[in-house]
Amino acid sequence: MESIRITGGIPLAGTIPISGAKNAALPLMTCGLLTDDRLVLSNVASLADLATMAQLLAQHGIAVEPSGRTLSLGGRITNATAPYDIVSKMRASILVLGPLLARVHEARVSLPGGCNIGTRPVDLHLKGLEAMGATIKLEAGYIDATAPTGLHGANIVFPFVSVGATENLLMAASLADGLTTLKNAAREPEITDLATCLIAMGANIQGLGSDTLTIQGVKTLHGATHAILPDRIETGTYACAAAITGGKILLQNARAADLGAVLSSLREAGVIITDSPDGLWVERANGLHGVDIVTEPFPGFPTDMQAQFMALMAVAEGASMVTETIFENRFMHVPELNRMGARINAHGASAIIRGVKSLSGAQVMATDLRASFSLVLAALAASGESVISRVYHLDRGYEAVEAKLRGCGAHIERIAAL
Ligand code: UD1
Repeated sequence: MESIRITGGIPLAGTIPISGAKNAALPLMTCGLLTDDRLVLSNVASLADLATMAQLLAQHGIAVEPSGRTLSLGGRITNATAPYDIVSKMRASILVLGPLLARVHEARVSLPGGCNIGTRPVDLHLKGLEAMGATIKLEAGYIDATAPTGLHGANIVFPFVSVGATENLLMAASLADGLTTLKNAAREPEITDLATCLIAMGANIQGLGSDTLTIQGVKTLHGATHAILPDRIETGTYACAAAITGGKILLQNARAADLGAVLSSLREAGVIITDSPDGLWVERANGLHGVDIVTEPFPGFPTDMQAQFMALMAVAEGASMVTETIFENRFMHVPELNRMGARINAHGASAIIRGVKSLSGAQVMATDLRASFSLVLAALAASGESVISRVYHLDRGYEAVEAKLRGCGAHIERIAAL
């Protein structure tokens, strides 16, 4: 296992190219199951999670061929089982369920189980597919789903917003017989990106960007070429890097409109963000102020930015409160940040952060993808040296972290685990 060593205290300055979004690439790759034609995805980041998805698709019969930043997907479905060893590595594997059912009328997908940030059930995915005519049994840790005569359209009202369930049902409905309506659907930019690709493949979808998606099923989908949108979470994360170090960074290709509440919360904290044709300039000239945030579905403050924002608030003037409403166990970075000198008290779904003047380097441990980056941020701002272990969490979703940060002057290197 590798670690990352950072010597902090350097204001970052330079340009960071924002990669294609991981959370858009994952469902877009599963669209390879929806057609016999070739699907070409461009602006694809090189990430461990995407390699896992390629491995999963390959064992379903869909070859994923990389060429630079492009993935070319093609092949016929030869196997409808998503095995435990891959699904347990990456929960987004559940996204093959809808496409497999729609395409070959059966799917056997290992139940994802819990993960570091909570129990994360998949009941909304299953109920939605049942409403579309699937028969679902849970057996020996697997979801056994069949729809011998194919899926049909349905009127589905989600009791709460789920990104993954919206994606699974959107893909399934594209090939279902008749009209499907998804109400209280997720509105994340990655959903719109997925719908845009499905439309390019011949799907008939209305309501993009809204909480009601209407899908008129078609008999077949064809090949397409689609460029993946820039990663809004990577954008927000590096915006925090500029802010926490008191630097100035151009986030190349970043799109302000996709940031939702992250933009206003950063500005409220005293960060200067300027839109330009090349991307977003992020700068902190003066002090940071404490700001309260509550995580919510898009366009609210994303749970995937909560840990990074908390690191920023750790060195802001005054107190701030962070409330996590999406996942029940997403404060594991708190004790690690406190080891670096932060003053954070977590209780239930909320954490109070009392800003300190400075953090100090320490040996800390990454616990999940976004929590790892909150430790990187704290280390970039801290005096002295920090070593962050278990960086494989980071590699799942952040491309070329050391190169991107080093390009802005950070002292960061990857080392063999201590
Ligand atoms: C996606 C993102 C993840 C992000 C999350 C919330 C991907 C690959 N992952 O995850 O990075 O943190 O959205 O923005 O895009 N829930 C249920 N039953 C279900 C489905 C979800 O109870 O059937 C709950 C979850 O446990 C969670 C909440 O709903 O509490 C939201 O989860 P969801 O939006 O589905 O997250 P994911 O799609 O798993």
